Amino acid sequence: MSNGRLNVLILGSGGREHALLKACLRSPRVARVQVAPGNGGMALEAECLPCDIANPADVLALARRAAADLVLVGPEVPLAAGVVDVLEDAGILAYGPRLAGARLEASKSFTKDFLVRHRIPTAAAATFAAVAPALAHVRAGRFPVVLKASGLAAGKGVVIARDLAEAEAALRDMLEARVFGASGDEVLVEEFMEGEEASIMLVVCRDQHLMLPASQDHKRVGEGDTGPNTGGMGAYAPAGVVTPAVEARVRAEIIEPTLRGLLADGIDYRGTLYIGIMVTAEGPKVVEFNVRFGDPECQVLLPLLDGDPVGIFESVARGTFRSTQVGVRPGAALVVVVAAHGYPAAPRLGDAVQLPADLPEGVDILHGGTRRQPDGTLVTSGGRILGVVARGADLAEAARRAYGVVPRIRIAGAHFRRDIGARQLRRDGAA
Ligand SMILES: Nc1ncnc2c1ncn2[C@@H]1O[C@H](COP(=O)(O)OP(=O)(O)O)[C@@H](O)[C@H]1O
Ligand SMILES: [Mg+2]
Repeated sequence: MSNGRLNVLILGSGGREHALLKACLRSPRVARVQVAPGNGGMALEAECLPCDIANPADVLALARRAAADLVLVGPEVPLAAGVVDVLEDAGILAYGPRLAGARLEASKSFTKDFLVRHRIPTAAAATFAAVAPALAHVRAGRFPVVLKASGLAAGKGVVIARDLAEAEAALRDMLEARVFGASGDEVLVEEFMEGEEASIMLVVCRDQHLMLPASQDHKRVGEGDTGPNTGGMGAYAPAGVVTPAVEARVRAEIIEPTLRGLLADGIDYRGTLYIGIMVTAEGPKVVEFNVRFGDPECQVLLPLLDGDPVGIFESVARGTFRSTQVGVRPGAALVVVVAAHGYPAAPRLGDAVQLPADLPEGVDILHGGTRRQPDGTLVTSGGRILGVVARGADLAEAARRAYGVVPRIRIAGAHFRRDIGARQLRRDGAA
């Protein structure tokens, strides 16, 4: 630590981590920031260090070499591998839950049990380790039915089956062909919930928390929510589906019992808790928990925080965070993801990336799948190449700003959705 300021190490290589990097570069708390492994865009702004971030011993060695005071963990895989436990036990501050808390994302069967025990509204489900009893359960129930590999599956482990044949195929893939490896050793057979989804992200420090504005992700590749699922083609916040009345129920029926349940179960949770909810006719219900920021939701939430995000992450890592410490800014934010030709099925890599030389006020370009070549030029190296994120007094202004910049990005064959935030803009128009 120099002059009380922090050397920060960010783990990850996507748009979410680039948003964290931007926050570090703006923070008065930060002396130096480095990233592992990072990407081509982040390399223009900070040193990027090679590291297998899924390996806690490698991360600890790197954090020591880098003299890191605070490690910000972006994705779920290092958290589920116990990176925070290893760093904290070595006396290095880390933002993110320890293993015990990370199970809320790494095991959907653990989470379902947690939700049921603490009487938190969620879809009814049963867990199976073999096809025959799972199929018998499916036959006795209704369609559509939701089948979920219990473990981490990079967002690909959930199938919504419309009939018995689809359900049987999915169960055989997960439990017999083991397409998700050990992550599919247990499968949840879950009741289908009808409604509109939203994401609620909390910064949690034991019994204290900050609720960030509700956001909405756009998972499908095509406009009007058509085509295959992706890692996310865009996001916006705040999401009006979470009305003040829904929010009050989310706080009372989901957030409070969840935080009480964690404490009661002896889980020292410090980090981001992402609550995926379905707003159903009976009220909000939990779809899932994630134990880190969503990508791309992170990109629209950090700009809406009033105060220095790094200062918040530091105090959470120290266990001293108080929820009165920060607030949320008025206005809205939106991010449009620019994806590679052929994404998500078969993204083409290696296309040249040309960016505008200057950006208007309130707009940032956050890289996900870019790489710098030895000659310094930028090429694509992943499906979700980059995101254009904009803030505005309202969502319409944020959308105008972001969509004003997107056409100025030149990447052969790249595509994006023109309707990010459209549902909310319609709601705003009707209001
Ligand atoms: N019980 C359910 N009813 C309706 N849709 C669901 C249900 N569970 C999951 N989904 C849909 O499947 C998506 C992925 O499921 P989720 O539990 O979030 O797993 P993951 O993000 O790990 O793939 C959700 O975002 C939602 O659209
Ligand atoms: Mg999900």
